[in-house]
Amino acid sequence: MAEVIVLNDQDVEKLVSFEENLKLVEQAFADFSRGKSHVFPVIREKIAKQQGIFGVKSGYLETQNVLGFKAGGFWSGNKDRGLASHQSVMVLFDSSTGEPSAFVAANYVTQIRTAAVGAIGCKYLARPASRVLAVIGAGQQGRNQLAATLKVMPSFQEVRIYDQDRAMATALAKDVARYIPKVVTEKEPRPACAEADVIVTAASSYQAIVLAEWIRPGTHINAVGTDTRGKQELDPEIFRRAKLVVDNISQCLYLGESQHAYDAGIITRESIYAEIGEIISGMKPGRTTPDEITLLDTTGVAIQDLATAGYAVDQARKKGLGTRVWL
Ligand SMILES: NC(=O)c1ccc[n+]([C@@H]2O[C@H](COP(=O)([O-])OP(=O)(O)OC[C@H]3O[C@@H](n4cnc5c(N)ncnc54)[C@H](O)[C@@H]3O)[C@@H](O)[C@H]2O)c1
Repeated sequence: MAEVIVLNDQDVEKLVSFEENLKLVEQAFADFSRGKSHVFPVIREKIAKQQGIFGVKSGYLETQNVLGFKAGGFWSGNKDRGLASHQSVMVLFDSSTGEPSAFVAANYVTQIRTAAVGAIGCKYLARPASRVLAVIGAGQQGRNQLAATLKVMPSFQEVRIYDQDRAMATALAKDVARYIPKVVTEKEPRPACAEADVIVTAASSYQAIVLAEWIRPGTHINAVGTDTRGKQELDPEIFRRAKLVVDNISQCLYLGESQHAYDAGIITRESIYAEIGEIISGMKPGRTTPDEITLLDTTGVAIQDLATAGYAVDQARKKGLGTRVWL
């Protein structure tokens, strides 16, 4: 029988700090660009009857020896049930025998691994003296992205928040006001974006919210919310002017914000400047001039989940946390 360790979201939260996670996710992307971590084809399908999106992301990290998958997705009706929109769980395997080794609740894993890539985007692509941060979409991801961005870039003096649900924007603004001198909620997306040095989009939208003419030279955009066919937050015209960095080329052209610019012929596969791992590992420079518009399209890659969950399981073994079952 195989011993399988079971971790819930609270266990993962105790075991993985923001700082550790940032390092793990950076390492996973750098390894990916060197061919040392592997991503398998993604499944992501609509469950229309239930307003759900269900998917499976899987892969293998050679350096950390973590093999497994995350299954789950996004249920837009969950808000009204008092549940998080995102729901997922991971299964890890012993890579030498194929036996299952861990079941890990992955809602918290998803939150922190996505926040980490946003922070990485800012670290390598935003102007270091960025002062105004716009957050479009004030749900779970907007909240996590905001916290992570402020941690890696203490230069921000002002945050502008826009959400079509004003109560969401107001609730987030109230929480953030403890950390930053000026927080404003906007009724429209334009004033949030027009003076921003960094724009983070994390809405579950199916139409462009941020228009090309609002984007000033030097702006960095982290496009986080579009991770499924049909979702959209940015005007595809933005891609004509932006230096485009992606988490994974194939995923972004099909599932990410890039899908719209790609389908409209505004970009090609060759227009993509880099995968983020190539920048982290020093194969290509990040931002090179203060005036360039940079755009990180992130869809969420299995290696992020595996790096975070694999570390949580290692720590749980060392610290005797979690529950054991035998299968
Ligand atoms: N890139 C990644 O790795 C990754 C990871 C997790 C989630 N996501 C995606 O991020 C998005 C947000 O996830 P979440 O868990 O924060 O969801 P959530 O339901 O907690 O929050 C979404 C917020 O977006 C707002 N919104 C929706 N459409 C809007 C519009 N047109 N204009 C303005 N605001 C709008 C909603 O009012 C809500 O407050 C989803 O699309 C999700 O699939 C991406």
